[in-house]
Amino acid sequence: MIEFLGDWKRTHYCGALTRADIGQEVLLMGWAMRRRDHGGLIFIDLRDREGLAQVVFDPEHSPDAHGKAEGVRNEFVLAVRGKVIPRPEGTVNPNMKTGEVEVLVSECRLLNRSKPLPFTLDDYVEVAENLRLKHRYLDLRRTQLQQNLILRSRVAQITRHYLAENGFLELETPFLTKSTPEGARDFLVPSRIHKGQFYALPQSPQLFKQILMVSGFDRYFQIVRCFRDEDLRADRQPEFTQIDCEMSFIDREDIITVMEGLIATIFREAKGVEVPLPMPRMTYAEAIRRFGVDNPDIRFGLELVELTDLVKNSGFKVFADVAAGGGIIKGINAKGCAGFSRKEIDELTEFVKIYGAKGLAYVKMTAEGWQSPIAKFFTPEEIAAMDRAFDAREGDLLFFVADKPKVVNDSLGKLRNHLASILGLADKDTYKFVWITDFPLLEWDEEEKRWAAVHHPFTAPMDEDIAYVESDPGRCRAKAYDMVLNGNEIGGGSIRIHQEKIQSLMFKMLGLSEEEARLKFGFLLDALEYGTPPHGGIAFGMDRLVMLLTGSDSIRDVIAFPKTQKGTCLLSEAPSLVDVKQLRELGLKTTAN
Ligand code: AMO
Ligand code: AMP
Repeated sequence: MIEFLGDWKRTHYCGALTRADIGQEVLLMGWAMRRRDHGGLIFIDLRDREGLAQVVFDPEHSPDAHGKAEGVRNEFVLAVRGKVIPRPEGTVNPNMKTGEVEVLVSECRLLNRSKPLPFTLDDYVEVAENLRLKHRYLDLRRTQLQQNLILRSRVAQITRHYLAENGFLELETPFLTKSTPEGARDFLVPSRIHKGQFYALPQSPQLFKQILMVSGFDRYFQIVRCFRDEDLRADRQPEFTQIDCEMSFIDREDIITVMEGLIATIFREAKGVEVPLPMPRMTYAEAIRRFGVDNPDIRFGLELVELTDLVKNSGFKVFADVAAGGGIIKGINAKGCAGFSRKEIDELTEFVKIYGAKGLAYVKMTAEGWQSPIAKFFTPEEIAAMDRAFDAREGDLLFFVADKPKVVNDSLGKLRNHLASILGLADKDTYKFVWITDFPLLEWDEEEKRWAAVHHPFTAPMDEDIAYVESDPGRCRAKAYDMVLNGNEIGGGSIRIHQEKIQSLMFKMLGLSEEEARLKFGFLLDALEYGTPPHGGIAFGMDRLVMLLTGSDSIRDVIAFPKTQKGTCLLSEAPSLVDVKQLRELGLKTTAN
C-alpha cells in the first residue's frame, strides 16, 4: 500500500553518509536499486542524486519494515528511518563512497511504486539512444547523467560569480525578435496579431548586447538559449546555451584576459584542473598552414607538411598540374604506420574524399627507402628533399593531397584528427587551449557569388586593413578571436564595428543594398549614430564546454532534454501537428499533408 510522507523530513542525502555518521538516527529518501534477500535480511541500495546508501531490513529488528521491503522492486520510492552502523568486517565496499556504513532500518514508508523499467539504469550497460530519449526521466536517473547535469549547474554558478566579481551585469534580451544572422537558418514564430508577419528566435543576442553597450551598461553577460535551424551533429543542437558577454571601452587584449580567466576559474573550481595562463595563441593563417583547420587539436603532432615547391617540377603529373593551376600539395607523416594494410589505406582514401580530395597518394618508408605507386615519378633528389620535409624515418607512412588550398587543408586537417583517433593520440584528460586570432574578415561564397562575413557582419576589420575592405576584401583581417579546446571551438567573439559608416560599408560589401540594410538592421544603424562606445565581446558554447569537462562524446549527454539528430524531442514528441483552429488564428495554411 502506498503511504504518505506525513511529517517525515529527510535528514541526509543517501550518498552523503560516512563513518562520521555512525550511531546517528537518519531519515533517507530515494529510489530502490538492487534488492538482495539474504536469508532473513533484505538489503536495498537506496539512491538519490548524491549517490547510494545500503539500507538493511532485519525481521527481528523491525518486522513491519521488513514486510514492506519484501514487496519492494526496482525504482520504488522509499523513505526509511534507521541508525547508521558500521558494515560488518569483510563486507566493506571500497568502491562505494558510503561503502563503510549501512543503515539498519526501524521504520519504512513506501511512497510510490514503479512499473518494470524499459531498460536498466546500470551505467555500464549500453542502451539505444532513442529508447533513452523517449524515457528521458529514467535515463536522467543514471549516475553519469546526474553527474553531468550537476557539473553543468556548477559551471553556471561559477560563471555568474566570476563575471559578477568582474563587474558584469546579468541582463536579458528578447526571444521573440527579428532575425540576428549568425550564419544559420532562423526558427520563425508567426504573429497572431500581425498576420503574415513573423518573429525570429535569436541565433544569438548579438545585436541586443551591442545596443546595451550603446546604452552604457558597459559590461553585460547572459547565460542564454540560442536557436539555429541547421544540420545537427554530435556537437550541435537546434537550441543550445551560450555564455554571452560584451564589454565597452576595451580592446582585444582586455577581453582575452578576462575570458581566459573565466575559463581557468571554471576548470579550477569545477574540475580541479589548473589551466596555465596566458593561453597560447596562433593566427588563423598559421593554424591553416600547420593543421589545415581553424580549430586545431594541439594535443598531438602529425602537422601538415608543405611540399608544393618541392614537387611542382616533378614528373608526377597530378602534382605538377595542380601546382601549375595554382593549387598546392601538402602531406602528413603518419609516424610508425608503414604497417597499414591496403584496406586501411583505401579507407583513409575514402575518408579524404568526403572533403573533396581526388585521391590520397602514399609512401611506405621501408629499409630500402620509398615503397609507393608514385615513387617512380620522382628523382632521388626530390625524394631526399621530401624525406627531409617530412622528417621521414623507416616505418613511417607518408600521405599526400594535391588540390585547391581549401580542399587540401580541409581533407588533411580532418585526416589528421582521424589518424589521431585511430592511433589513440588524443588523451581525454589533457586539456590544450589555444586562441585563434586574425581571422579573415570576409570570404568569397562561391555558391551565392558574393562576399560573406567569416564571423558575423558586426565584426570590425583590423585598423591597418580598413583600407582593403573595398579594394581587396580577401586580404582584410578581422578583430576576431576563437577559443579552441582540444580541437573544439568553444567560444568566439570580436571587437565590433562601432561607427555607422563602417557598418554601412560592411553591409554593402555583403551585397546588401542600402534599402535592404535599413530594412533588416535599421535599428542598429540608427543606434550607432548616437554615441556608441568602442566595444567587443565573446560567446562560449556552454554545452560544448560541459561536454569536454565531463568527457562526454555528445552535447546530448549534458543537456537535460536534447533533440535527436533529426531535431525531434522523443519525450514530448515535438514537433507535432497543431489544431486547424490554431493555424486559422495565425492566418496560416500548411502545404504539408
Ligand atoms: P558563434 O556563432 O561562434 O558566435 O557561437 C558561439 C559559440 O556557441 C557554440 N555554438 C553551438 N553550440 C551548440 N550547438 C550549436 N548549434 C552551436 N552553434 C554555436 C560554439 C561557438 O563557439 N554572437 C557571436 C558571439 C560574439 O561575437 O560575441 C556568436 O554567436 O561553441
Ligand atoms: P593515379 O595516377 O590516378 O592512379 O593516382 C596515383 C596515386 O595518386 C593514387 O594513390 C591516388 O590516390 C593518388 N592521387 C590521385 N589524385 C590525387 C590528388 N589530387 N592528390 C593526392 N593524391 C592523388
